[in-house]
Amino acid sequence: MKVLVVGGGGREHALVWKISQSPLVKEILCAPGNGGISRIAKCVPIKASDIEALARLAGEERVDLTVVGPEEPLVLGIEEEFRRRGLRLFGVSREAATLEGSKSFAKELMEKHGIPTASFRVFENPEEAKAFIKEKDSPCVVKADGLAAGKGVFVCREPEKAMDAVDEIMVRRAFGDAGRKVVIEELLEGEEASFLAITDGETVIGFPPAQDHKPVFDEDRGPNTGGMGAYSPAPVVTGELEERIMETIMVPAVRAMAKEGRPYRGILYAGLMISNGEAKVLEFNVRLGDPEAQPLLVRLKSDIVPLLLAATEGNLEKMEPSWDDGASVCVVMASRGYPGKYERGKVILGLEEAEKMEGVFVFHAGTRFEEGKWLTDGGRVLGVTARGEDIPKAIERAYEAVGKIHWEGVHYRKDIGKKALRRLRRDG
Ligand code: AMP
Ligand code: GLY
Repeated sequence: MKVLVVGGGGREHALVWKISQSPLVKEILCAPGNGGISRIAKCVPIKASDIEALARLAGEERVDLTVVGPEEPLVLGIEEEFRRRGLRLFGVSREAATLEGSKSFAKELMEKHGIPTASFRVFENPEEAKAFIKEKDSPCVVKADGLAAGKGVFVCREPEKAMDAVDEIMVRRAFGDAGRKVVIEELLEGEEASFLAITDGETVIGFPPAQDHKPVFDEDRGPNTGGMGAYSPAPVVTGELEERIMETIMVPAVRAMAKEGRPYRGILYAGLMISNGEAKVLEFNVRLGDPEAQPLLVRLKSDIVPLLLAATEGNLEKMEPSWDDGASVCVVMASRGYPGKYERGKVILGLEEAEKMEGVFVFHAGTRFEEGKWLTDGGRVLGVTARGEDIPKAIERAYEAVGKIHWEGVHYRKDIGKKALRRLRRDG
């Protein structure tokens, strides 16, 4: 088979790496890919958002299966475009991608179908939104309705901040049309977890729980990023809670989308807030998480390709993926300035040495290879991922590998997995 992976970050490097191990696969293309990916796949310089050019490529190259990493092409309708041309693609339809593309749609769906989430109101008028904030006079979260590259969410402990957020989103239009509506919701306390599943629209197979680290600095300080590190399993999600998440969130969401005439086939990712053993949905995403994909795919023992094919064919009930019993941890190494304006073109040292370590996988998020040197080429540069028999061992190994890598201005969190360690100590 020939496979095309769409995207060019750490998640896509992990996908290409996993797909490359399948005996079913002869050749992998990736668009646009990155430096690290180019070592195991043929990278084609087409943007993930250029669905017309991607469909042409898949047709001309006789690609048997296209796998979509990021949300943007899904929201733009890549699934429909490929289907129209008779090309097989793993990823949700545009109608299903609304679950991520519109927060008000997701909240209203959850309310209608009894899926646990924070209470909320949707506003199309900034004055009404601000009047509501004033009247409530309590901590809240203000969210731009549409896609805002993870930047459209404001957690506001004071009403004044919430009013500013409304102005930023709706009046100043910091996120363009994504700010036509805002969602204002109750601020939830607790610990976050990421729960992902693969579905063919009927059968829903949950992945082991994972946890992301969104804020840029240790102890969850500083502005939010795309994610500074992740690990799996996440002990905050006990076996019992995992079952309840499947029963009260994942399966109901897939059923609800079918009832709304938006059949859901692909990855369903629930961002959860967990408090007192109960999970509530913060958001849904319609794709693998980045960096959650890195530790999850490292733990997946089964061939991923039959799983992806079964999901596109509606045959998922026959599949039973198996997972490594141990743990894995991914530490993201970023460029100076990230998540704001960041530097590029710094020489990366020590990559080969880190890659030689057993149980270590260095996924590239933003690199390029030029004249015999690896250079930084993105905000998030590397996702250094390690396997271990348990979380403490995986953390130790991941940071040992991180310690071998350096470039000018590099920064990373030193506390990835610490929440899990605290919990294991408390419970153990
Ligand atoms: P979202 O993109 O909706 O997941 O929001 C991004 C981040 O904002 C989440 O990962 C949480 O850290 C935070 N957040 C979102 N909604 C809430 C909420 N209702 N209560 C507390 N924190 C929230
Ligand atoms: N790691 C968060 C995300 O992929 O949205």
